[in-house]
Amino acid sequence: MAGMTNVRMGIIGLGNIGKYHADYLRNGKVNRCELTAVADAFAPLEPYRPLKTFPDGAELIASGEVDAVIVATPHYQHTTLGIAALEAGLHVMVEKPISVHKADAERLIATHARHPQRVFGAMFQLRTEPRYVKLKHLIASGELGELVRVSWIMTDWFRTEAYYASGGWRATWKGEGGGVLLNQCPHNLDILQWLCGMPARVRGFCQLGRYHGIEVEDNVTAYWEWASGASGVFVTSTGEAPGTNRLELCGTRGKVVLENNRIAFTRNQVDMVEYSRTAKTGFARPEVWHVEIPFENAPAQHSTLTQNFVDAILDGAPLIAPGAEGMNSVELANAMLFSSLTNATVPLPLDGAAYEHKLLQLIAESKFEKKVIAVSSEDFTKSFVR
Ligand SMILES: NC(=O)c1ccc[n+]([C@@H]2O[C@H](COP(=O)([O-])OP(=O)(O)OC[C@H]3O[C@@H](n4cnc5c(N)ncnc54)[C@H](O)[C@@H]3O)[C@@H](O)[C@H]2O)c1
Repeated sequence: MAGMTNVRMGIIGLGNIGKYHADYLRNGKVNRCELTAVADAFAPLEPYRPLKTFPDGAELIASGEVDAVIVATPHYQHTTLGIAALEAGLHVMVEKPISVHKADAERLIATHARHPQRVFGAMFQLRTEPRYVKLKHLIASGELGELVRVSWIMTDWFRTEAYYASGGWRATWKGEGGGVLLNQCPHNLDILQWLCGMPARVRGFCQLGRYHGIEVEDNVTAYWEWASGASGVFVTSTGEAPGTNRLELCGTRGKVVLENNRIAFTRNQVDMVEYSRTAKTGFARPEVWHVEIPFENAPAQHSTLTQNFVDAILDGAPLIAPGAEGMNSVELANAMLFSSLTNATVPLPLDGAAYEHKLLQLIAESKFEKKVIAVSSEDFTKSFVR
């Protein structure tokens, strides 16, 4: 906005993550940004005064008190409030996932396309983590050769029954629209597509409520295939303890593994395909070098993305995670679930209308009764990816 030197920020949704955003903004962690208004439909607003407070996101959007909003409500409202905010002329940062399903994500992205002068970002803070940045550079530099196989076992998302009972919206088709793929995994799915691009087809096997009394998926194994022929598996769970977080990328020039906060690169001295074609003996293998890739052990900071959002509004800085790119993690989550529910391999791009239809059917046929209990307050930052 011409002449603007400071962004007046609003937060909609003051649950776990909304409170967290409010804390670092109130502590001055983001330059040239002032938290001026907050909204929540249920959470107490008293602690936020003298900020302007609203009992609903729509009222905050219409208030004229903010230039930009962070939408930190349950996922379905990311679409509705995101659209309302863009249409009201505000800049919008939506929490992950940008929407519950592809058709909604398209609606949100289309609204932004009609208001291109507004900044639309998504909270994928993992993109700033040095370990993932190093992997991205390794692939881009060609050091890994052509990507042939990917595997991410991310079963370190352990959640208890009390977690699922902590919010009425959680883990229901109607309130959340999915389980581990949509709530915990958007970060992993975003990083995977950021590093490797989108696969051409997926086959998912999703177990619904295997570990918890919930109706959505909490245990998943999926096969992915890229147009290049590269193959992959993605495994995730909220029921497994101790969990694993192991990302393995295999290219024709070597293999890199990120696990236990270490990046180990086993580098083929020559391309393995070339070696196979030219070797004179049957059991020979390319010589390998073991390389430890150093990286700064800095956890992702949500405030870094919010600072980037503010810099984009004020200076036109490029976004680390443009909102439109949030489509890919939604599409991947939907495709794995759709594949499992229809017992078929799903080609990408996903048929968003068919998936929306399926989800509406699940909502209509749901007989699940959600039990909600009060949960003792605990350090929510423990939930961030390690
Ligand atoms: N980027 C991250 O690391 C990260 C971490 C946690 C959660 N999230 C995302 O943030 C979102 C919220 O998660 P949470 O754990 O904070 O949930 P939560 O249930 O703790 O909080 C959501 C809040 O939104 C409020 N709300 C709902 N509809 C509203 C409306 N129309 N107007 C105003 N307030 C409204 C609710 O009253 C509730 O207080 C989810 O989409 C989740 O995926 C992102």
